[in-house]
Amino acid sequence: MAGAAMTAEAPDTVPVQLVEQPRLQKLKEIFMSKFGSAPKFYVRAPGRVNLIGEHIDYCGYSVLPMAIEQDILIAVEPAKSQVVQLANTNSSYLDFSTSVNNIEINKTKPQWHNYFLCGLKGIQEHFGLNNPTGMNCLLDGTIPPSSGLSSSSALVCCAGLVTLRANGKNLSKVELAEICTKSERYIGTEGGGMDQAISFLAEEGTLLSKLKGLDWKNMLRLHDVQTKLGVSLEEMLTIVEEVLHPEPYSTEEICKCLGISLEELRSQILTQNTQDVSTFKLYQRAKHVYSEAARVLEFKKICKEAPANAVQLLGELMNQSHISCREMYECSCPELDRLVDICLQFGAIGSRLTGAGWGGCTVSMVPTDKLNTFLKNVKKAYYQTNVQRLALENNSLFATKPGRGALVFIEA
Ligand code: GLA
Repeated sequence: MAGAAMTAEAPDTVPVQLVEQPRLQKLKEIFMSKFGSAPKFYVRAPGRVNLIGEHIDYCGYSVLPMAIEQDILIAVEPAKSQVVQLANTNSSYLDFSTSVNNIEINKTKPQWHNYFLCGLKGIQEHFGLNNPTGMNCLLDGTIPPSSGLSSSSALVCCAGLVTLRANGKNLSKVELAEICTKSERYIGTEGGGMDQAISFLAEEGTLLSKLKGLDWKNMLRLHDVQTKLGVSLEEMLTIVEEVLHPEPYSTEEICKCLGISLEELRSQILTQNTQDVSTFKLYQRAKHVYSEAARVLEFKKICKEAPANAVQLLGELMNQSHISCREMYECSCPELDRLVDICLQFGAIGSRLTGAGWGGCTVSMVPTDKLNTFLKNVKKAYYQTNVQRLALENNSLFATKPGRGALVFIEA
């Protein structure tokens, strides 16, 4: 992106740059051969890794994600017909078209186009668009799918921004992130907003990105409990130990504690996915959330104060985060644990699962001078021992640094 010129935009809206990258030119050529005319603009939204702060965004706490350079890029031409035509440079993702007036999202089939439709529908509904424009869109994605790097949220965000621009509307990045978080729920994903916020709000070279100003009011969050009690995170950890017991809670016990019926628990508190869960590890989950939230604050403090042993301290926090995810939140899996061990063995100062977990990926902090040997050794120890992993190796193992958030590109 070197040398790209910026056009003037309000600082809180998505920046617009002139088309200068060879990748955009290539996409334009494919677009023209597909649709017979040139795209009018391009939109990109990046994937992310989360440095620390796992499964606490939806509890109301700050997290520390960063955007990566891998992204979703879409070339767009608004069309007179009220039809959206979607194509993908990867031929394994089939073409799709639908009327803009009748957006139906099939939750049972998480095909790629349904994520686009989430972003589209979110913007349409936000503005109550009666006469939305049709569009021809060609997508090019470089985020490895199903890898825990948030390719689906990047696609929803990209589609939201595409629809916004095609319909001549404007929103701040925070509003866009908010809408895209809500609209991803059309496909059944109940995320906490981290992925969409970082996709829009990331700043290149910044380590630190904080979720703020998003509307979480329909959630009963552990953060609300802390605020209400007016105590520190450390005090909350003591309270958890005093008030909750480590043995799993049955639904009956929870109903008794809350003074509600099973029906009320099911309809007012449990989500669709947890309706049939019969035991709940409240103690462990709360311990994870409050300790992880404290680790995020500590991480931020170390970055700010930069003591001589900062890197060691940050690494230690990442390692503690992984242990808490594994033991308390139980969102790791044997493969992630193995990968973390291998990364630590070959020179990572800190290593942890990142993103939702239960698969996905790990993030490691590695000194630059050890990077090449680190990558070589991890490849050998993890990927080259298994045929399935070997097939993934090429785009699954990479070095990255904080990238920038979503952008719109236009021709000069
Ligand atoms: C998913 C969600 C995020 C966040 C992470 C876990 O990526 O979309 O909002 O909750 O899991 O930290």
